[in-house]
Amino acid sequence: MILHFKEVDSTNEVAKKLAAIGAPEWTIVSSDSQTEGKGRLGRRWISPQGGLWISIVLRPDIEESRLPIIPMVSGISVAKVLCDMYGLPAKLKWPNDVLLKERKVCGILAEAGENVEYVVVGIGINANIDMNKFPAQLRNSTTTISTELKREVDLNALKIGLLDQFKEDYNNLIRQDFSILKEEWRHLSSTLGQKVKVITPKEIIEGNAIDIDGEGALLIEVSGRIKRIFSGDCIHLSNF
Ligand code: BTN
Repeated sequence: MILHFKEVDSTNEVAKKLAAIGAPEWTIVSSDSQTEGKGRLGRRWISPQGGLWISIVLRPDIEESRLPIIPMVSGISVAKVLCDMYGLPAKLKWPNDVLLKERKVCGILAEAGENVEYVVVGIGINANIDMNKFPAQLRNSTTTISTELKREVDLNALKIGLLDQFKEDYNNLIRQDFSILKEEWRHLSSTLGQKVKVITPKEIIEGNAIDIDGEGALLIEVSGRIKRIFSGDCIHLSNF
C-alpha cells in the first residue's frame, strides 16, 4: 500500500504511527513536502516540494546487531537507481549518505519500534530542488539531481524505480547474508580508502577507513590499530 500526502510533518512519523497499529510490511508513506523532516543525529531535514520524501515499513527478522545494515542496503539501492536511471555516478558515504561528486544528494534515517517490532526506513532524495532552497552553510556539501542533470526528473518514476530496486536488495539481504551486498557497498563506497574524521557522541576518531564489517561498522586504522565505529558523523579528509 502506498499512501501519498501533499504535506506531512515527517513521513517517518506517519509510517511509525501506522506500523505501531499493525500496518503490514511494505506500507509506504510519501509526501510532496515535510514541515518537520527529520535527519540523523537529531538534525532537521530540509524537505520542500520537488524532493522524494518516502518512508517504508519493514518487519525484518534479523538479529538486532545487524539492523544498521538495513539503511546501508537502502543507500546501495538509491545509488544503483541514480546510476541506472540517470547515469549519475553516485557513491556512498558511511553509514548511509548517497553522494554525487562528494556532495550529499540523499540521506537515510532508519527508526525501530519497541523490541524491533518494525523498522521504518526513511529516504530523502534531493531530486528537483533549486539549490537556493538550502541554507547557505549547506550549499557546498549538498546537491540535487536536477542540479547535476540540468533538468528535472519524474518523481513518480524515481519512486517506483527505487522501490523495485530496494525490494530486490532487501529480499536478498533477508535471504542470504550481507556478503554479496557488502561487496556492492564496498564497490560504491567513497569512504573506504579515505582518511576520515568520525565524530561520535563519545570521541572524535581520525584515521584511514579500511573496511566495513558484517554489522555495518566502519573499521578505521588509527596508528596501526583497528577501531570499530558503530555510528557517527563521517567527514572525508582525503584519499590515502
Ligand atoms: C540524514 O540525516 O541524512 C537522514 C535524512 C532522512 C530524511 C528522510 S526524508 C523521508 C523521511 N522522513 C523524515 O522525516 N526523514 C526521512
